[in-house]
This record gives sequence, structure tokens and C-alpha cells, in this order.
Amino acid sequence: MCGIIGAVTESAIKPVLAGLGRLEYRGYDSSGISIVINNEIKTRKVQGKLKKLKHILAEQPLDGEYAIGHTRWATHGKATLINAHPHQCGQVSVVHNGIIENHLQLKQQLLQWGHILKSSTDSEVIPHLINHYLSLQMTQEEAIERTIRQLKGSYALGVLINGVEKNLYAIKQGSPLVISEGNDGAYMASDAMALGRDINKIYYPKDNELIKLNADNVQLCNASLNKKIHYVNNTYYENIISKGKYSSFMEKEIFEQVDLLSNAMSKQQASSYTAINFTKLNKITIVACGTSYYAAAVAKFWFEKYANISVAIDIASEYRYRSPIITDNELTIFVSQSGETADTLAALAYAKSKKAQTLALVNVCNSSIAREAGFFFEIFAGPEIGVASTKAFTCQLAVFYKMCIEAAKQRAFISHTELRKLASYFQLVPYLIKKVLKQSSDMKRLAKKLSTYSNVLFLGRGIVTPIAQEGALKLKEISYIHAEAYAAGELKHGPIALLDEQMPVVVLAPKDSLTDKLLSNIQEVQARNAPVFIIGDACIREYINLQEDEFFELPSIPESILPFITVLPMQLLALYCAQALERNVDQPRNLAKSVTVE
Ligand code: M6R
Repeated sequence: MCGIIGAVTESAIKPVLAGLGRLEYRGYDSSGISIVINNEIKTRKVQGKLKKLKHILAEQPLDGEYAIGHTRWATHGKATLINAHPHQCGQVSVVHNGIIENHLQLKQQLLQWGHILKSSTDSEVIPHLINHYLSLQMTQEEAIERTIRQLKGSYALGVLINGVEKNLYAIKQGSPLVISEGNDGAYMASDAMALGRDINKIYYPKDNELIKLNADNVQLCNASLNKKIHYVNNTYYENIISKGKYSSFMEKEIFEQVDLLSNAMSKQQASSYTAINFTKLNKITIVACGTSYYAAAVAKFWFEKYANISVAIDIASEYRYRSPIITDNELTIFVSQSGETADTLAALAYAKSKKAQTLALVNVCNSSIAREAGFFFEIFAGPEIGVASTKAFTCQLAVFYKMCIEAAKQRAFISHTELRKLASYFQLVPYLIKKVLKQSSDMKRLAKKLSTYSNVLFLGRGIVTPIAQEGALKLKEISYIHAEAYAAGELKHGPIALLDEQMPVVVLAPKDSLTDKLLSNIQEVQARNAPVFIIGDACIREYINLQEDEFFELPSIPESILPFITVLPMQLLALYCAQALERNVDQPRNLAKSVTVE
């Protein structure tokens, strides 16, 4: 959830600050750095965003060869200065991402040993424990390893020790960590992107491998470093971390979807969905969180309708706590953009412990979920930086759609003609996305009006119901307008009581087999004086009286590919409402890109 970085290089502050900028998507409640100067560790931290820290460091510059940095998403302890990382005890300073579950017991022990802990974080115990063991004349490595043996939970740590020797150590257990050796130094970080152009080869450590980085080299302690090195294309990362002509990463990522979907489609053709024997399956369970969960909800519709496979969908944070029944001929699919979501990872571990056949759909191939699953498919969205997930969703859908065609083919549930139609509709996706994006100014107008309300209801029917839910999630996440979504038929079972002049309803109304039913639902809403906004087919306007800024026209879209296209107006709506309200689109409050805590 937090971002950590460390560098050993001639001027370490520069890569550490630049890296923190690229890690801010992981959290931005506070930030801080520690650096060794004149044989002493100096620490600077701020509550709030990195720009504050940069400002302080611009006024009082610090630099040295060894530095660590942290950007925080608060879990244990409020987002205050005292809780900001790095946490220091004597000549030991630590940055931590993860959760130390037994920190209260450890704190108790440290208090008995006479240590004074200042913060209310779970992390502060770590430098104190290391310092304690150093005081017992253990070597630096022994002191860290002794500490690690006491920690319960998940962590990726950067440990800076300024002793007889200066060293930067890195170690992880269940949280992401990369190590890099460049021509000019050694680095560690939560992800490769943080290291930007300064890297060309990276190493992904295993759990509990203690790695020492110093001016001479990178070393695996207590074993020979038999590294599997990944070579990185620097220009690729440079393009990823730049917003280009866009005002936010979210906007850039929305507009990237035209190209991505065309490329992803051809890449996915190379992937082999034939590896799955769908004829042997009698059930698929799909487990995910947030936006990835709504992709699963769309997949359920496709698999059941076109391949006649029963699909159960589960929210990852609930899955392992309700004794799910896992049968022999069942495939359990875990969907995660980041591949690091703690709830999804824990659900995967649970499914594996029950001998389930597991498959992951991930965007980050080196992620924990990709590594832990029986096998995985990449969604080819490229790194997604905006906290609000956009392009990953459509790329997840693309994989599911292709899988579903393969399943339908193997199970011979639909005719060859229908199969060919499904495949040819898929080819229309980039063209239709482009068409919708060209009308973005119409959505800006609609969003301006909608953003004046504090609450919004979203309605959809059939295959676009999960899209309405995704629209509500996007809107609340980045604009802070309260939004909920319902299958339109559910309205009369309760939510209709909410309708009045102050409760606008956004209806997703493409032309499909349920249009007539949806028209009746819209009448019900108008009869209660609720303002209606429609994202729909042109034919809707013949029946419903709307102003220009209350309607966004959808092109004509084949039903099977509706989710790919209708989600675009939802993403634009959230983006433009957030912009109208001057929200920080890429860094919404209280959120972070990957939720690596339960
Ligand atoms: O990385 P994941 O796909 O596992 O993330 C799941 C959710 O945390 C994520 O989709 C979240 O809901 C997004 N911020 C939504 O835009």
C-alpha cells in the first residue's frame, strides 16, 4: 500500500525523490526520506503529499550516497507527521510497506527493554528491534534476520544502517520488492517503474532473501546470489510515467483504450486459451475486488449465455470467510490488475489450500497473484497509474471475451455462425471506442450539470448492469459524489423511495433486448420528479423528453460487446465530474492504487 525506495549511488537523493514521485500512486498520506550524511542518518518527513517534502529539501538540501524514501497510505496510525516513515532508532532507519500483525506484542517487549516508541504505526517496532539486536553485538545481518523471525504479517523493507559499515538492506515477505543494479549504483523499490530510466536490469527477490546493497555491489546475504535478471526497456517506462498531452493519468489511460484494445486483441490471439479444457468444467468461480469484480460480473453473463457454463462471482474479501464449496470440475479465476491486492491474494491462497484449479488474470506479470496461481493470462493493458482503473477493465473484458469464445467453441453450445459473429463483433470494439471518445465534449456538458448534485443513482439492465455499477464506483471514487447502482428492475423494491428533485438518475440505455422494459423504468423515475440523465441509443429520445446536456448518444452496438463500449461514457463522466469539482483525479483521498492490506 505504501511505496518504498532506496538507493546507493553518488547522489542518492535524486533517484529517491524521483522514485517517490512515481510511487505516489501507492499512497500519498505522508512522505519522508533518510540519508547518511557525515556519518549520521538524517531524516526528513512531511504529512501530506511529496511536493511538500520536495519543497523542504529544496530549501535545505541534503545529499549523500545512501538514502531511503517512503510514501504512505495510512493503515496503522493516522496520516500524521509522527507516523510518517522512515522510522529511525539510533543509526537504523526503516521504510516499510505491509502490515506487522503482532506489532502490539513486539511494542510491549521493546517497552520492557526501555525503548521509547513515538508513533502509533506497526512499523516503528522494526528499527527498534534491529537496533536492540545490534546493541547485543550481533552483526547487521544477524540483527535483521533475528528481527524478521519475530515479525508476523507482510512486509517489504528498506533498512539503512550506519555502523562501522554503511549498508542498505532489502527484504520482503508477501509484499512487492524489486532490486536493481545499474552502472552507477544499486537500487531497491516497490516496483520497477519507480526506478525510471536509471535501471536496465532488475531482480525480483524471493520471500525472506536478505539483500545487501552497498557501494561495491548487491549481495544476497548467506547464499550466493543466483539472480534471474529481467532486462528493462527504459524508454518504455519513460513513456509510461509521462502524462503526455493529458491533464491526468486517468484521462491518458481512458484515451489509450483505442490502441490498447487493437493491440491487446492481437496479443491475446497468441495466448492459448485452448490450454483450458472447458468441456470438463461444470462450474467457474471468479473472485476479485472493485473494478476487477465488475469485469467478473460481465464475464458471468458471457460464459453463461454463450458457453452454457455456470459461473459464480465472489468478492475476494468475503470468499475465504464463507466456506465456499469447491468442486472437482471447477475452475477458480482470480482477477486483479495489480496482482497484489491482499484480499484477492488471500482468497487465492485459500482456494489453493482446498486444491482448487486456479487461474489468474493480471496486468502485472511478476505480481504475487500471477506467481501463486496455477497459471495466468496477461491482460496487456500496460502499467496503469491512475488510481481509478479504466484501461485495465476493458483489457480484462477482452481476455474474458476471448476465453468465452473458446469455451463456446469447445462446448459446441452455439452455432458456427453465432461463433463467427461473436468474433467479428469483437473486431468492432476499437472503432466503437474511438467513436464514443470523439463525443467527449458532450459528456463534459452532461458532467457539468450532474456534478452539482451530491447523490446519484445509476441504473442498467442485463449485461450493462455491472457497467452501471462500475460507473457508480468510478464517480464516487474520484469525485466524492455519493453514487449507487441498481439493476433497473430493482428500483421499485426500495431505492425508488429516494427519488425526488435532488436525486438524479443516470440510466445506461443502449438498444438491446431489454430496451422496452428500461423505458418503463425511466418513466417511473420521471414520474417522481427525479432529474434523468441518459447514456443511450438515439431511439430513446423519441420516447423521453431530455435537454441537450442530459443525454449522451451511444452508437449502435451489438449486444455481446456492449460492456466494452458503454463503460467509456462512465469513465468520462467520472473524470469530468471530478474535474468540474476540482478534485485530484489521479490521487483521490483515502485511496491507493494497489490495496496490499486486508
Ligand atoms: O489491482 P486490482 O484489480 O486487484 O484492484 C482491485 C480494486 O482495488 C480496484 O479495482 C479499485 O476498485 C479501483 N480503484 C477502482 O477504480
